[in-house]
Amino acid sequence: MITRPTNALGRHIALAGFMGAGKTTLGSDLALALGRSFVDVDAEIEREAGTPIAEIFAARGESEFRLLEERRIREALEACEPAVIALGGGALGAESTRNALRERAFTILVEVDVDKAWHRVSGAGNRPLAGDEASFRKLYAERLPVYRGCADAACSDLDGAILAAGAVEVAAGALSRLGELVPAEGNVSLISDENVAAIYADAAKQALGDRLVSTHVLPVGEEAKTFASFQRLLEDLTLERGDLVVALGGGCVTDVGGFAAATYMRGIAWVSVPTSLVGQVDAGIGGKTAINIESGKNLVGAFHWPARVVVDPDLLGTLPEKERREGMAELVKTGLLAGEKLWELPDAKMVRKSAAYKLRVVVRDPHERGVRATLNLGHTFAHALETAGAYGSPSHGEAVALGLLAALRISTQRYGLDPAWLQAVEEVLAPQPVAVDRDLAWTALFRDKKVAGGRPKFVLLEAPGKPVWGVELSEDEARQALDGLISGP
Ligand SMILES: NC(=O)c1ccc[n+]([C@@H]2O[C@H](COP(=O)([O-])OP(=O)(O)OC[C@H]3O[C@@H](n4cnc5c(N)ncnc54)[C@H](O)[C@@H]3O)[C@@H](O)[C@H]2O)c1
Repeated sequence: MITRPTNALGRHIALAGFMGAGKTTLGSDLALALGRSFVDVDAEIEREAGTPIAEIFAARGESEFRLLEERRIREALEACEPAVIALGGGALGAESTRNALRERAFTILVEVDVDKAWHRVSGAGNRPLAGDEASFRKLYAERLPVYRGCADAACSDLDGAILAAGAVEVAAGALSRLGELVPAEGNVSLISDENVAAIYADAAKQALGDRLVSTHVLPVGEEAKTFASFQRLLEDLTLERGDLVVALGGGCVTDVGGFAAATYMRGIAWVSVPTSLVGQVDAGIGGKTAINIESGKNLVGAFHWPARVVVDPDLLGTLPEKERREGMAELVKTGLLAGEKLWELPDAKMVRKSAAYKLRVVVRDPHERGVRATLNLGHTFAHALETAGAYGSPSHGEAVALGLLAALRISTQRYGLDPAWLQAVEEVLAPQPVAVDRDLAWTALFRDKKVAGGRPKFVLLEAPGKPVWGVELSEDEARQALDGLISGP
């Protein structure tokens, strides 16, 4: 049974850590990224007292300051709307604060080593407890175990904080630490597909140790997401409500494994271990789970946030090139939304940044009621092409690459987006027009499940990193863009 929250969804994020860790800067960046308000407890106390903390210490003593601090933290935690709260370095000394954080917040330790912290704060003159280096180091050694004892997660940069808030661990070699990364104590069932199980099931089993009670190997690809395969999986599971499912594989495995967890015994916890590029930057993250039924792909599903996502970029080493290209389309999409050429980075960095970008959007909007729609950049055109091709050709990745091309062409015309970004997409993804029926694709464009009120809504880019969504195009504009993606008559 999971007794502590593993993510910050719907909860305040409290940033704890030693002075000089950078909690104020990180906190305000994190609040901006997640669309939350930011409370800097020290700054609030200074504002209310009308005097700097060093003077409160000098005039009223540390114990008086700690009382002010406790009260201000309590008030911040009582607010309903989840915020980001930067705590002062000594705030966790108070038992009542530790208890209140446990109850109402997800606490992230902002790590800093003592040398860096001293370098940052010494000489600044505004830190009452940073007078001499020896006592600074002693205080650091005393406080570190308190921070660690209270924190739900740790980070040392903005992406790390976002990943921690969404319960995502990205690290080379993480598969071998699966045992410690799967939260709680319950039994575990491992779900995988034939390909991935053949390569990684032994390592996963070894890492899970005695907790593993069963392994379920699904067929490869969309076959795993049929109703029959889903039903078989549910029939085979023998877990109890406090147990967990671990889904190890590409997007098909995490989609069906997550949906099985969402529905088995009215919902049990699950851990997503994405092994494909699509999975690591997209499908394995964000809590959308689904299976296919005859009337459509992903038509039955649930939002069910994984208790942990374990992303090991080393696993991409065995991914076939064709599958890597599928993932590159989603990755380029993320880079365009983030305004950063993520595709130029080495794998580990590329995956970490891309996962963090998706998380900053989905933590903000877990149920797709607003900004999450931006993740559909290029996808409305893509779905139309896939439907016209009867989900045979183009593949999803090829269709997304073409869809991005259409979205960027329109964005260049409408908003003056720098054509260099369009060129970059052409170079990296090399999308080729597909031979599908033009009229079928045109009809499908209006049937996309994202269509609201009968007209398709599009995501475009005003500039790299500046998506706009809910855009309606004129029929001419949409038809011209769609026709430009299709070859032949
Ligand atoms: N839930 C979401 O938010 C979301 C988002 C995007 C896509 N999806 C879904 O994801 C699915 C596509 O995911 P996918 O592209 O990962 O497909 P997939 O799960 O079929 O994996 C692709 C292929 O790669 C193999 N594979 C995976 N990891 C491997 C590895 N490390 N080494 C060797 N082989 C490996 C698989 O066995 C499979 O043959 C679709 O069903 C789509 O609807 C879901």
